Amino acid sequence: MLSLNVWFLFFLLVASAVALSVLLAAVLNSLFYDGSNNLIFLGAVVIPLVDAPIIIILLITMIRELRDSRQQLDKRVKERTAELEISNDKLMQEIANREKIQAQLIQAQKMESVGRLAGGVAHDYNNMLSVIIGYTEMALEKTDPSDKLHENLQEVLNAAMRSADITQQLLAFARKQTVEPKVFDLNEVVERLLKMLLRLIGENIDLTLLPKKGLWQIKMDPSQINMVLVNLCVNARDAITDVGKITIETDNVSFDETYCAEHVRFIPGEFVLLSVSDNGSGIDKKILEHLFEPFFTTKGMGKGTGLGLATVYGIVKQNNGFIIVDSEQGKGTTFRLYLPRHEGRPSVPNVENEALSPEGSGETLLIVEDDQAIREMVREMLENIGYQVLAAGTPSEAILLAEKYADGIDLLVTDVVMPEMNGRDLAVHLQTFCPGLKTLFMSGYTDNMIVNCGVLEEGVNFLQKPFSQKELAVSVSKALGRGTAI
Ligand SMILES: Nc1ncnc2c1ncn2[C@@H]1O[C@H](COP(=O)(O)OP(=O)(O)OP(=O)(O)O)[C@@H](O)[C@H]1O
Ligand SMILES: [Mg+2]
Repeated sequence: MLSLNVWFLFFLLVASAVALSVLLAAVLNSLFYDGSNNLIFLGAVVIPLVDAPIIIILLITMIRELRDSRQQLDKRVKERTAELEISNDKLMQEIANREKIQAQLIQAQKMESVGRLAGGVAHDYNNMLSVIIGYTEMALEKTDPSDKLHENLQEVLNAAMRSADITQQLLAFARKQTVEPKVFDLNEVVERLLKMLLRLIGENIDLTLLPKKGLWQIKMDPSQINMVLVNLCVNARDAITDVGKITIETDNVSFDETYCAEHVRFIPGEFVLLSVSDNGSGIDKKILEHLFEPFFTTKGMGKGTGLGLATVYGIVKQNNGFIIVDSEQGKGTTFRLYLPRHEGRPSVPNVENEALSPEGSGETLLIVEDDQAIREMVREMLENIGYQVLAAGTPSEAILLAEKYADGIDLLVTDVVMPEMNGRDLAVHLQTFCPGLKTLFMSGYTDNMIVNCGVLEEGVNFLQKPFSQKELAVSVSKALGRGTAI
């Protein structure tokens, strides 16, 4: 495009050229032709003579202008193209991020619903397993160890215990496992577990621990670290064919919003990193997204249940952390677990009092349990170890019994979820006429008013179903000895 200046110049030049031509023509005309009007002279000689140089100048100017404006246009096109390329890259990045987030969301929803299902099934199984384990233990005590029946009962008990382990793993995956969080240094717990892990992975595999000095504290149930490390190390061991190397590492890491915007799987904040890497077979990219699903396994029948990583996933999620897996086929795998930093004083280590006798000495216990099989089993177990038992099938029955034996009741042992009234409300109600009554809650399901999202409140006595006779004895004894009234 020609600029306005050029058009103005053009107009000026043309106007002055025409004026000059007319003036020149008039002068020449009057000098040579006596003033007679000779248009041929004017048109054929004067105008071209005067106008030609002007037109040439004009053309040169226009060509230059055109060349300049073309160069400018080229420059702008290049700039715009570069800008468009940048926006396009950003858009593609945005679309890729969105797709990743969407896939993650779908995966999280899937895991959530599988978790709900697993948690529900685990609840029912826990009740039934409680009865199987309880009665088998009592039957074992009544049979002679040399008797074939004793051996058979032991097999029943072993199978029930294995099933209880599976329900525990399902509960861990569903984040419905009862936990007692403590503030602690991860390095200390990992170091304590090292011996056991070495035994687990065997001699052909080299296990190295690289602990970070000045590691931040975390708050979770230390027993969950045990579960996590056992599962990750066993998986690493299984991925190594002959000899190999497993490395456990800890570190302090923090991620800001900008980093997390570019790395969608990360969460902003300060974390303690626990990573377990191996130089084993690595994981096929196609199965990576199924890794944490319960019952997903590539191991043959009877070799793996596919619950190991589901447990790890549930535990990390329950503690508001996240997991990143990096794997390359043939080179190895690294599982990085990020656990939120906890700023606070470390908890006093929970020292189990081994000397505590699980035997009763005639104390009276009020059992409230709506499942008759469990109620009768608990009654029998407790009577066996020296307690007097009052048993009620409903909260209203319990209230009647409590009114009758008000002063004589030493401990309330109650189910949590019952028709009529929940265990906590019952405990509060009974305290109106049995002041200071101690309570032991038992449940197979942990997402309720006693165990808030699986986390036990301080001072609450809780027994997770299924339980063995010894676990019941220890819990009752603890609740009687140092239980806090609710
Ligand atoms: N470190 C690893 N290297 C290679 N593959 C792995 C690794 N960890 C897990 N996997 C793969 O993930 C699958 C699921 O692991 P997960 O621990 O959940 O179940 P499993 O080990 O098969 O059975 P389980 O742990 O219940 O005995 C494994 O079958 C295996 O294919
Ligand atoms: Mg496993």
